[in-house]
Amino acid sequence: MTRGPSINPGVAKTLGWPRLGVTDRQIGWPDVPRETSAWTRDATGLLSTARSEGVGAESAPELEPGPAPAPPLRPPGPRRARFDVDETPLLPEPEPEPEPKPEPKTVAVSRETSGAATFPAPAETRIFVVANQKGGVGKTTSSVNLAAALALGGLSVLLIDLDPQGNASTALGIDHGPGVPGTYEVLIEGRLMADHVVDSPEAPTLKVLPATIDLAGAEIELVSMGAREGRLAHALRTYLQDHQVDYVFFDCPPSLGLLTLNALVAAREILIPIQCEYYALEGVSQLMRTIDLVKGGLNDQLQLSTVLLTMYDGRTRLAAQVADEVRLHFAEQTLPVVIPRSVRISEAPSYGQTVLTYHPDSVGAVSYLQAAQEIARRGAKESA
Ligand SMILES: Nc1ncnc2c1ncn2[C@@H]1O[C@H](COP(=O)(O)OP(=O)(O)OP(=O)(O)O)[C@@H](O)[C@H]1O
Ligand SMILES: [Mg+2]
Repeated sequence: MTRGPSINPGVAKTLGWPRLGVTDRQIGWPDVPRETSAWTRDATGLLSTARSEGVGAESAPELEPGPAPAPPLRPPGPRRARFDVDETPLLPEPEPEPEPKPEPKTVAVSRETSGAATFPAPAETRIFVVANQKGGVGKTTSSVNLAAALALGGLSVLLIDLDPQGNASTALGIDHGPGVPGTYEVLIEGRLMADHVVDSPEAPTLKVLPATIDLAGAEIELVSMGAREGRLAHALRTYLQDHQVDYVFFDCPPSLGLLTLNALVAAREILIPIQCEYYALEGVSQLMRTIDLVKGGLNDQLQLSTVLLTMYDGRTRLAAQVADEVRLHFAEQTLPVVIPRSVRISEAPSYGQTVLTYHPDSVGAVSYLQAAQEIARRGAKESA
């Protein structure tokens, strides 16, 4: 059993890696003189501004004639990290992939993909938990698009929505309004998963256990339950006894609470999406510690197998730096393909679709297809 790589907190301090016990006061400050730099000390030791004419004005340095305009507190444009200052300024963002946008209601969008391929099946069910307690890094987007890509590649896939927001259910065209049974009933009421798993219109072999807002209370209800961390593992084991599934994905909420813990106990592999942005790596070491705790007690089969770089913006140096840093620390686990920042990816869920059926030829769809292909290839190789 290999343990996940450990993080050396001493490196890349400007890329969001936490530095134990050290606070870098420069991080995040705009690189401009502070308001207080114009202050001087007078003879009595009191602080006064250079333009002040009050007590102690004689001891202040020679003043410029006329009132000088106050320096701007912040330069125009976005805040920049210190290592960014000599970078070519960002151009006004061009709209990527300028295909005409279909009307949501009137245009029927094809659910066929041009990238359909046949992926190798793993020897046994691969169970992934897609986790990162940082919010908005692409957990749901990656879960649904990888699940759909593998299903469109001919494999049977089950996605379990563990987030009360139900975003994965939305993206896969599944109703998750109040009263729809799903993960809550399985986890809290002990119902059979098979009774509540539904087919996604995205691919013939893609099934979903939807999440409703009820799941928001599950975290608290679980606290007083027996074997609370293993309930999902038990439910999934029972389901897999009667159903042949190649891939299971858990889409986790942005926390390391009992919902995520249940997924970590039920899964074999962890997939961490990392957004190629400032502070992207913050929290990864906390996640690694949680993984180690779970491995040490509740699930010794768990391993960090896959890291996926998401929302990569090739126009910024920062994105490339984050990607390099992640590859340095997770050399084996990081997939070679990165998921670009793409308008098509972000608008697909509003049509209840994945980007693979919404715009199959877009760079986002092709990237997720390649990532899925690589995951399937690694799974087939490992099990061979
Ligand atoms: N590659 C991408 N390009 C552009 N937008 C993206 C991309 N990936 C995700 N997004 C958008 O970023 C937002 C956050 O993504 P997503 O919901 O997948 O993150 P998450 O980690 O699941 O969030 P949460 O922590 O809230 O569950 C969404 O609006 C999504 O559409
Ligand atoms: Mg999500």
